[in-house]
Amino acid sequence: MKKYFLLLAALLLFLNCPAQKFDQLAKTPPMGWNSWNKFNCDVSEILIMQMADAMVSSGMKDAGYEYIVIDDCWQIARDENGEIVADKDRFPHGMKYVADYIHSKGLKFGIYSCAGKATCQGRPGGLGHEYQDARTYASYGVDYLKYDWCNTTTQDAKSSYTNMRDALYTAGRPIVFSLCEWGNSKPWEWAGAVGNLWRTTGDINDSWNSMINIFNQQKDLSRYAGPGKWNDPDMLEVGNGGMTTEEYKTHFTLWCMLASPLMAGNDLQNMSPETKSILMNKEVITLNQDSLGRQAICYRDNGDYQIWLKPLANDEKAICLLNKSDEKKTVLVDFSLLAKANAGRRSGSASLPIENYRVRDLWEHKDLVLKETSVNTDLAPHTVKVYRLIKK
Ligand code: GLA
Repeated sequence: MKKYFLLLAALLLFLNCPAQKFDQLAKTPPMGWNSWNKFNCDVSEILIMQMADAMVSSGMKDAGYEYIVIDDCWQIARDENGEIVADKDRFPHGMKYVADYIHSKGLKFGIYSCAGKATCQGRPGGLGHEYQDARTYASYGVDYLKYDWCNTTTQDAKSSYTNMRDALYTAGRPIVFSLCEWGNSKPWEWAGAVGNLWRTTGDINDSWNSMINIFNQQKDLSRYAGPGKWNDPDMLEVGNGGMTTEEYKTHFTLWCMLASPLMAGNDLQNMSPETKSILMNKEVITLNQDSLGRQAICYRDNGDYQIWLKPLANDEKAICLLNKSDEKKTVLVDFSLLAKANAGRRSGSASLPIENYRVRDLWEHKDLVLKETSVNTDLAPHTVKVYRLIKK
């Protein structure tokens, strides 16, 4: 009798508690654009709609970019019913209008809020309004929510984010859930069941040091990433002007190797040919979007010089050589060894002899002609080489 009672209690608990995230979202790392890195608080419906237009006309949409995400400062108050209110001067037609426009371009719409009482820029946060806000976002047609961590005082991260996850699930519209608590409480250990991506560090800025410092902190996190759950080393700075073209290539390549979300953070209306060729290098993007969903591991670490390996579907593999130093380096690369190398704990794939592959340079866009399987390779300061072993 007691056994049946316990079973019944367990069943009732299960039925009452949605306790899950939407399970078909972000099977590969989300790609899109976010307003923060370039525009900060200077957002408006005109800007956002122009970015949606530019996403299409520049070719970014065809290259795979999909989400247009408005970061902080779109919201200004709560009304007498606690409803979140958009800044009327900047978004005179309201957020649903913006969402509809974005959807009409075949793109998806992302919005921003914060788990605390106020956002990082002091706008109204979500605390105490989670279920109400989730319903509101669903009614706007939101497809992606970035949820920040400012002004959370003594809140517990796991329970705060889980609460918002349940609110989104209850509202019923599938929304990619992006956690932004800067890695403070090791979200990689628990957020796989809560959201689709989680920031692993503090904010990036548009400099080599910031970018490479964030990259260095991703080294032990590979095993936590997979389809539907990604480590997020923050948005891209490519095209914002603070790094050289070579450094931006490195930034973009590393983010692709890490299976990181690819959120462009530049002005899509004004992209130089170099910026376009980086953000739209489809061969490098394909590494990021590979269906196996594995984050690269650091295979060889000689301080300033590293080799990273990313296992890909169909027993293929990406190899990235990285020179972090300020000096040129010449390194001996043994493709035969790298073809057979185990690329991480969960491997077992991508370890065939080199004879099975051709080696493609993904920035030169051509196959290597290998006389020997070991080759001396020059790496300029702050640069990468990235190759794909493609099955013959
Ligand atoms: C935090 C986040 C940033 C950005 C700003 C907006 O700093 O980490 O990515 O969203 O807030 O205020």
